Formats: sequence, structure tokens, C-alpha cells
Amino acid sequence: MPTDEILAVEGLNVAYGESKVLFDVSIHINANEIVSCVGRNGAGKSTLLRTISGFVKPTSGTVMFADTSLVGIKCYDIARMGLKYIPQDKKVFSDLTVRENLELGSYATQDYNWDKVTEYFPKLTLLMERKAGYLSGGERQMLMIGRALLGDPKVLLVDEPTEGLAPSIVAQLQNVFLELSKKAALVIVEQNLSLVSAISQRVYAVKEGRVVHEISDEGEIKNNVCEKYL
Ligand SMILES: Nc1ncnc2c1ncn2[C@@H]1O[C@H](COP(=O)(O)OP(=O)(O)O)[C@@H](O)[C@H]1O
Ligand SMILES: [Mg+2]
Repeated sequence: MPTDEILAVEGLNVAYGESKVLFDVSIHINANEIVSCVGRNGAGKSTLLRTISGFVKPTSGTVMFADTSLVGIKCYDIARMGLKYIPQDKKVFSDLTVRENLELGSYATQDYNWDKVTEYFPKLTLLMERKAGYLSGGERQMLMIGRALLGDPKVLLVDEPTEGLAPSIVAQLQNVFLELSKKAALVIVEQNLSLVSAISQRVYAVKEGRVVHEISDEGEIKNNVCEKYL
């Protein structure tokens, strides 16, 4: 693996029962890079992230996290190794407070330093005793991303983080992602193409289970050409 590469997916095929969803997908991510995956609903983006993070087992292909092969390793062990998946559904433990949700994250990672969470999301400090079920969508996303920062992950896979959020929160998350990329590589699945063009170093376009295009030209990304590959 090239020295600055942190994640390499090669020839990934994934099926749910008889139904094939990913076909020969290869992507690679460098340390501290922000890479976006774009594509229509049902293209297989979430399946790709779920397979990388060990929730779905591929029928064939390899996933290398630095020098470690991830295929066959359990999702919670992959998380503990420093590759975190932040799912699309924004599921938190809604009967638990923000504090209790973070305590679970600390228990799982043995990382009790919450400064790294509140540094990015100071608002969570004010919401510690609130039950997560009463958070707004934006606050819940902050909790999910914040909790994922415990254990100092090297790769964050973030699935449609801005879906349904107010523009002011999207702008805030945009800055957080840029800041986080100083510490970790980010793979972001996003429908918001202006966010994609603002933060991505590279973009993969996924269509019907295949990577159909990789855009790495800065000018092309800034000019928002992704749309034509969808
Ligand atoms: N758990 C599942 N069981 C069966 N089919 C699934 C499951 N999850 C997703 N699919 C199917 O796989 C395809 C890709 O879904 P998904 O990865 O969620 O796409 P995307 O995230 O790009 O919208 C869709 O046709 C979807 O219906
Ligand atoms: Mg999805």
C-alpha cells in the first residue's frame, strides 16, 4: 500500500441474498483526505460504507485499513481499530441523555476525554442532561459525530450527514469536516453537491452499484461537475 494510503477497497462485490448490489467496487483514501461518494438513492453508497465497516460481508474483494485486512473482522472490532461508521439513520439512544450516550462511547473505546468532542461541538456541553430523543436533527448529528471521535479514529465514514438539516447547521458541519480532516480521513456520502464541491479533494460517482467516475481535478470539483455522472 502506498505510504499515505489509509483505506483501500479492491474489487468489492456485495449481495443481499440473491440480489447483487455492488459490482467490483474499488476506492482508495489517503490519510487526512476528504473524499465524497455521490449517487442516486439505491446506488449502493450505504452498502459500500456498511461493508467497509464490517456490518455487511462482501461476496468477494478486499478492504485494507492501513496494513490490516478488514474482511471477516467484526464491526465493533473495526470501530475499535479506528475506523468509524456514522450511519444515515441518525440513531442515538433516545431514552438516554447526551451525557449517557457519550459515556457509552467512552466505555466502548476506553477514551474518556470529551474535550475532543466539545471542541468541535461546543453546543453539546449545554445539552448534556437532555435526552437524545429530544434533540433536533442537527444536534443529534453532532452527538453521533462527536461520539465517533472518541478513540481517535483514523477514518470516519459519514453517511448523508446533512440530510434534512437546516442550512446553518450544514455550514457548521462543513467547517467541522474540514477541521476533522487534520486528524482523520473522511469518506462522506452526500446528496448536497455544493457541500461536496466545497470540501472534497476527490469524488467518486456511484451508479447502480458501480463506481462510474472518479473526479480528482480541483477545478472540476469546484465547478460542481459531479451531477453529470449521477
Ligand atoms: N438490508 C438490505 N436487504 C436487502 N436489500 C437491501 C438492504 N439494504 C439495501 N438494500 C438494497 O440495496 C440497494 C442499495 O441500497 P443502499 O446501499 O442503501 O443505496 P444508497 O445508500 O446509495 O441509497 C438498494 O436496491 C436497496 O434496496
Ligand atoms: Mg444510503
